[in-house]
Amino acid sequence: MILLKPTEENIKLAAKAIRNGGIVAFPTETVYGLGADALNPLSVSKIFEVKERPEFDPLIVHIYNFNQLELIAKSIPKKLSILIENLWPGPLTIVVEKTSIVPEIVTSGLRTVAIRMPENQIALKLIKYSNTPIAAPSANKFTRVSPTRVEHILKQFKDEEINYIIDGGKTNFGIESTIVKYIDNKFYILRKGSISKEEIEDIIKEKVLYYKQEDIEAPGNFKKHYAPKAKLKIVDENMKIKDDPEAGYIAFCKPPISKFKVVKILSPTKNLREAAANLFEYFHQMEDMKIKKIYVEKIEEKGIGEAIMDRIRKASGK
Ligand code: TXA
Ligand code: MG
Repeated sequence: MILLKPTEENIKLAAKAIRNGGIVAFPTETVYGLGADALNPLSVSKIFEVKERPEFDPLIVHIYNFNQLELIAKSIPKKLSILIENLWPGPLTIVVEKTSIVPEIVTSGLRTVAIRMPENQIALKLIKYSNTPIAAPSANKFTRVSPTRVEHILKQFKDEEINYIIDGGKTNFGIESTIVKYIDNKFYILRKGSISKEEIEDIIKEKVLYYKQEDIEAPGNFKKHYAPKAKLKIVDENMKIKDDPEAGYIAFCKPPISKFKVVKILSPTKNLREAAANLFEYFHQMEDMKIKKIYVEKIEEKGIGEAIMDRIRKASGK
């Protein structure tokens, strides 16, 4: 595991490792990804091994331009093109029918493939220099919190598991991309994420639905996902909680009155983007402090507040 600064030369070095079947952890605008050559089934299988996923779960393929999209997607419905032209590069993942070039292991045997163009220069260059699409799940072990900094990766993986990690600092969004699928002329969100339902509706000028059978369509939606080691308790901002000097407390905008071992504020100015960017960050910090119990305040489920609450619920196992 070699930690690299994001210089041109280093990104080229990492790209070469991808070409040679290696594993590279890299920053995206959402969370760090654990990448391998998406067209090489053997390298992709390494990702599953390193991530310790109990079963195969389809991966998102990261591309840097529209030529690569043509390479892996059979066709893109018109409505969906409008959406990606507006939002790419950005934290939106689309699920479309795949071409035969995409190995089965990438899609867990599904006929569809999840694709996105990340809004991060390091990621885009890495894909470009690799000259192949990069399959990458979030760079965390199965059920653990997604990494928003290289330190989070360093503490979870063993030396021999990853060839290079490119340090891009803290990721902008802090929660994963929104996954959408267009079926029978309707848009569905398969996973809530950094782009809100409203943002999508504004672009396509029609209603977007939530897919009900989430567990089947996005198998990664296990109930307990994104979990810190600590027990999580979801509380109300105005709830009176007794002092709990061993516990951590994650507040939305203002500190609680009671005493805790550590208190973190997601966004003093009530900015949901800032809150999203800090959530996993605070989970990691409290995990490092060996905190066993974390109180997290409920957030209004508007805009990306929905995705934030989704992650909090999953982390609590609810
Ligand atoms: O922001 C992100 O999306 C990050 C960064 C690294 O790009 N990646 C990420 O990957 O969150 P991962 O593997 O943690 O989550 C991928 C999700 C899973 O829930 C998986 O089930 C779903 O995408 N998925 C992948 N292919 C799919 C497909 N063909 N149909 C439906 N869901 C799919
Ligand atoms: Mg993940």
